[in-house]
Amino acid sequence: MEIKITKTTTPNTMPPEDKLGFGKVFTDHMLLVDWNVDKGWYNARIEPFGRISLHPASTVLHYGAEIFEGLKAYRRADGGVQLFRPRENIKRMNRSAERMSLPEMDEDDMFELLTTFVKLEEKWVPKSFGTSLYLRPFLFGNDEALGVHAVHNATFMLIASPSGSYYKEGINPVGIMIECEDVRTVRGGTGYAKCGGNYAASTRAGERAAKKGYSQVLWLDGVEQKYIEEVGAMNVMFKIDGVVVTPKLTGSILPGITRKSCIEVLKTKGYTVEERLLSVDELIAAMESGKLEEAWGCGTAAVVSPIGKLAYGDKVYEIGGGKIGALTQELYDTLTGIQWGKLDDPFNWVYKLS
Ligand code: PLP
Ligand code: COI
Repeated sequence: MEIKITKTTTPNTMPPEDKLGFGKVFTDHMLLVDWNVDKGWYNARIEPFGRISLHPASTVLHYGAEIFEGLKAYRRADGGVQLFRPRENIKRMNRSAERMSLPEMDEDDMFELLTTFVKLEEKWVPKSFGTSLYLRPFLFGNDEALGVHAVHNATFMLIASPSGSYYKEGINPVGIMIECEDVRTVRGGTGYAKCGGNYAASTRAGERAAKKGYSQVLWLDGVEQKYIEEVGAMNVMFKIDGVVVTPKLTGSILPGITRKSCIEVLKTKGYTVEERLLSVDELIAAMESGKLEEAWGCGTAAVVSPIGKLAYGDKVYEIGGGKIGALTQELYDTLTGIQWGKLDDPFNWVYKLS
């Protein structure tokens, strides 16, 4: 794929790395590729970062035709830059596109777009351990008409944001509220796709939880509101009586790349991992009997995040004395070690860009 590059004439500099926060600072450039049902993908270009102009009838503004991905570029101690399992994000982006009737893209082309862009923006990959350049590919429909149908025109974009930790708590345990009213998705819905609408529908519950002092909500399934699904921006895992249990991928949960990686790491370390239905009743019983040893969320933005407190109705359960558990810490150390190049990569997950 030919990519036309127009460089900015007014490059910015990186703010102090301890002040980055998550997703607030953007690099100097953005990448765009247009798609038309007859032409396919065309006009791949990298331009100075800036506002984009859309027709007021644009499909994305009315019918939510939008999907996105999230992955990171990491700076190793030797100064080089690497990506973590980028092909997994590319594959998931195409699965999301298929669900939302948006165009898929050849995997090698998307890989080339990603790597070309990150190489151009390499100075924006921060250096401190725990920071990274968060990459946000997204794709939206932009037909300039109000009819409802699969889009005929779309745009793929990539922006990047040097970021620190997702939660203000960092690696300290977060409090999570089990959501009993709203549901995130339903059987046959879009739960497994990373589409903007899933997040829009989640916000109300997230805000209610935030008002009560919780970082995010833990969703229950949308059919019976009985089984644990995932957290707002993370999959979840529980260590119950020595065994790691994580909700199985039923179609309504995002198949997280961090989840998949955690499972592989845990199995290699000899732990039993059960991917299965886990009812909220079973979880509460495990908390009440003291069998719930650890709980954590896992996701690209949040990495591995210990859950120190779970609220269900008017009951609040403290997990592991509100401290990070030994296995959560081990997983965090292993994953971040591989991602930031401090540990060997026996799984071949890392793609070195420099
Ligand atoms: N679940 C949801 C709803 C998410 O938004 C994310 C983040 O992308 C995850 C799970 C974790 O997925 P991954 O590990 O691929 O980032
Ligand atoms: C992730 O990329 O890990 C996410 O969950 C995205 C989130 C900020 C919506």
